[in-house]
Amino acid sequence: MTVRIHMNHAATSATKPKEVVDALTAYLLENSHQSAGRGGDELSAMRTVFESRRALAELFGAGDPSHVVFTSGATESLNMAIHGLAADGCHILATCLEHNAVARPLHLLQKWGRAGVTWLACGPDGGFDPGAVAKAVRPNTRFLVMTHASNVLGNVLPVAEAFAAAKACGLFTVLDAAQTAGHMEVRLDADTDVIAFTGHKGLRGAAGVGGLILSEAAAAHMAPWKAGGTGSQSQSLDMPDFMPDKLEAGTPNMLGIISLRGAAEAIRGAGLANIRGYEKEITGRFVAGLKDLPVDLYGPSGAENRMPVVSMNIPGMDAGVLARRLSGEFGIETRSGLHCAPLAHQTAGTFPQGTLRFSFGVDTTPEEVDYALDALAKIAASL
Ligand SMILES: Cc1ncc(COP(=O)(O)O)c(C=O)c1O
Repeated sequence: MTVRIHMNHAATSATKPKEVVDALTAYLLENSHQSAGRGGDELSAMRTVFESRRALAELFGAGDPSHVVFTSGATESLNMAIHGLAADGCHILATCLEHNAVARPLHLLQKWGRAGVTWLACGPDGGFDPGAVAKAVRPNTRFLVMTHASNVLGNVLPVAEAFAAAKACGLFTVLDAAQTAGHMEVRLDADTDVIAFTGHKGLRGAAGVGGLILSEAAAAHMAPWKAGGTGSQSQSLDMPDFMPDKLEAGTPNMLGIISLRGAAEAIRGAGLANIRGYEKEITGRFVAGLKDLPVDLYGPSGAENRMPVVSMNIPGMDAGVLARRLSGEFGIETRSGLHCAPLAHQTAGTFPQGTLRFSFGVDTTPEEVDYALDALAKIAASL
């Protein structure tokens, strides 16, 4: 099988934009000895990191680049936000669509007896009523953490309304933007305290890097979850109390951080509205084509309120077998199973068997979408 078509963008992007490749190549050829704040060509390293911080602050609408914190990905970002904002005996709200990057840290806090968690219900297609937020708030509720879009069902959640309700109750708000950053506008507005993002999915940067975008209030109140060398205030065993050093410990992932500057440049060049428009178009084409096939489709019925993520099953066929046939017979790479989000499958009624997930990106072509539909038709007909 020589054809290889990546339809697993929700897991990781396939191609990297020229801006990312150029930024990484230049760094590797000229500057790979840089280590920000740790001697050597320290100043140029700090400048390099700052340029990425500034590019991401612009992309996510953060006024202050020092409120951009680099991490190893959305998982670390979410752990930092959850552990850094939780207080002993507090109560936390989350939705029933959360990825394990949110669900497992919350479950740990529950198991340790440090926090109680209320999982806000969603409909089988992922629909979420923001009115549920105010009803679930208790005197000790500290924050609402929620995914911007389900990585299983693809639906975009009504985050603006949910965060406005949470803010009206005095909560911090934490957004898991792993499935939306780089695909659509994600902005730090007055109701958002924390945006957690990853570098290798929609942003199309390197794997192993991501970050946090923090409001003034979150920057002031989030306690360090990870501690270590920062190259600043080294006489003290306490983490520095200023941003971003307060939340960044250890030698930074220079390659990852540099890739994010290229990623932000590429997105600015392409325009987020254009990216979103194109991805909606190809997702719409795929969803419309699925309606003619004997398949079960999950999530919203169309593409309007959907990321380029489509979960489905062929009745009577295991999702893993379908994934292997798509790969082996047609060269199409998808993902089957629970996609690290068991709660979302319980919500959709697809637990524990899971689904077959197609996910697209800006480099997916309409011809590839048609080829995938044709492959599904052939597999369904062979049963
Ligand atoms: C909704 C969601 N949150 C968090 C993550 C974790 O991202 P990463 O593995 O890059 O840390 C993912 C990854 O699939 C995701 O889909």
